[in-house]
Amino acid sequence: MVEDRWPSCRYSVIGMRKNISLSASKLIQDINFQKILLPLRVIAGLSALIFAFNFCYEVFVSYNPSSYQKWAISLITFVMSIWTLIEVRGLSRWLPISLVDVLLYLVGVQLALVILRIVLAFFFETSDGQDWRLFAHMEIGWRWIFLLAYSVIFISVVDTIIRLFSLNEKNKAVALEEQMLASLNALAKARDNETGNHIIRTQLYVKNLALRLRKMGYYEGELTDRIIDLLFKAAPLHDIGKVGIPDHILLKPGRLNDEEWEIMKTHTTIGEAVLSSAEIEFKDEDGVIAKALKIAGGHHEKWDGSGYPRGLSGADIPLAARIMSVADIYDALVSERVYKKGWTHREAIQEIISHQGTYFDPRVVEAFIAEQDNFQEIAEQYKDV
Ligand SMILES: [Fe+2]
Ligand SMILES: [Fe+2]
Repeated sequence: MVEDRWPSCRYSVIGMRKNISLSASKLIQDINFQKILLPLRVIAGLSALIFAFNFCYEVFVSYNPSSYQKWAISLITFVMSIWTLIEVRGLSRWLPISLVDVLLYLVGVQLALVILRIVLAFFFETSDGQDWRLFAHMEIGWRWIFLLAYSVIFISVVDTIIRLFSLNEKNKAVALEEQMLASLNALAKARDNETGNHIIRTQLYVKNLALRLRKMGYYEGELTDRIIDLLFKAAPLHDIGKVGIPDHILLKPGRLNDEEWEIMKTHTTIGEAVLSSAEIEFKDEDGVIAKALKIAGGHHEKWDGSGYPRGLSGADIPLAARIMSVADIYDALVSERVYKKGWTHREAIQEIISHQGTYFDPRVVEAFIAEQDNFQEIAEQYKDV
């Protein structure tokens, strides 16, 4: 049965990829990546040249060059410093962040140093009536100070540029992840018979459970702030596998027969398949898609091993899925369906407690009991209308 539905599932994945890559290219245009890249390269190139010219200056001076050579090098570094300053100013229009201000400051100091050296050179070499060679030892000291200052500035400029590059890459990755999630969520929602509020409610239940577990001292290592945030973002994708379930089953008003139910169960493995292609495509081994994959594949597993699709038990079921299953069941119980009335909050709590240690991870149920008032509040606030 699963085999029959693979083509439709694959089709969905291809459509999804297309959608994501369109969003990504639009995004890169939005942040004008091309406009940032060129000034960054020019600034890096100019900084390297200024550093090289300063080094040449020191070498020339050691061999007692004509003052013409010194003036030429000073003039070139002056012009290049001004150019760098203009480029950095231009960059600040595209990237209004403090790192660009740091770059501006560094290039400003570099320009000040060039000017200072020109002034000093003028003073030492044109002071009529003074034996400027008396200052020779001082000039050597100055030269070393200048070279050291240029080295520090050069390293700082390059470091700032590298940071800007990586920041840009990071921004791109974050925005790409958001676009990808939006696309996947849209795909999940398009084929889900649940309401949009079910997504919001379960997302909030999952977050509350995870925070409570951590507060109780359970699974602290597995529930860092970052992971809880990932769970929150991944929760809406728990039933994404429904993209592969035929309409006559997914939209059937009323209870499913055994055969239909078997097909319905495959939404877990189809969800894994859909998300694992997204995971490979976006190299997301440790991110939101990886979490969503665990949730999609494991949210119908039961603590005692009687769940599906693999009959995993206990800690073999990923924690994310164990948390999701309590959140999902609570919501399914208290919500009204075509074939059933919504249970009361109290009845739902009793039902979940009665399956503590059989269906559900006992610790997650403990956290659920502690969070019951918040669950009721969320159910009330985001109830289906
Ligand atoms: Fe499900
Ligand atoms: Fe659900």
